[in-house]
Amino acid sequence: MNQDEQKRAAAHAAIQHIPAGCIVGVGTGSTANYFIDALADIRSRIDGAIASSEATARRLSGHGIEVMDLNNVDELPLYVDGADEITSHLHMIKGGGGALTREKVVAAVAKKFICIADQSKLVDVLGKFPLPVEVIPMARGYVAREIIRLGGQPMLRQGFTTDNGNVILDVHGLQILNPIELETELNQITGIVTNGLFARRPADLLLLGSEGGVRTIVI
Ligand code: 5RP
Repeated sequence: MNQDEQKRAAAHAAIQHIPAGCIVGVGTGSTANYFIDALADIRSRIDGAIASSEATARRLSGHGIEVMDLNNVDELPLYVDGADEITSHLHMIKGGGGALTREKVVAAVAKKFICIADQSKLVDVLGKFPLPVEVIPMARGYVAREIIRLGGQPMLRQGFTTDNGNVILDVHGLQILNPIELETELNQITGIVTNGLFARRPADLLLLGSEGGVRTIVI
């Protein structure tokens, strides 16, 4: 299977994990798009979906899947999303598509987080993929200086505004040996809305598309 086929296979495997009659949290990106397309086939079996971005909301609606407001939902049994990098501890870097804040909110609410990814996303150490950090525009300079103090090289994502009206700094040059510690440290910097480390709330299960089929990895 090539990379796209691996993404599609992982996305289709996630469909088997959806309890009947539930609301499903849906991520953002090309792998999540395969999941949305597969979800369309079983839309009569779910009550609706929570979208992690405007793009995902549009794709869900286009398939006739009801998009609900997270504030009107008491329980979210499942969230399915891709990742830019993931370790065997199921710690992730996310935000390549810039949707990290809403993704982190939906992941926080969800009882179970299933990550769907192709083989290339599985890494021993996070950080080769630049870490996305969503920043309030007026704090961009200050946050960049604080990140440099921590050893990273922040680069402004050019021409990009998040769904929340903020900017993204992509942080290069990090070798993230302790993702929980760095996620916590970045959370303390005033002006950062969210950082793309998903380690304090990791995935619960990884469906990894590989050349030989879909592997299931749990911690
Ligand atoms: C978007 C994300 C995506 O999950 C991540 O970028 C992976 O994308 P893709 O499935 O296209 O490889 O975090 O903000």
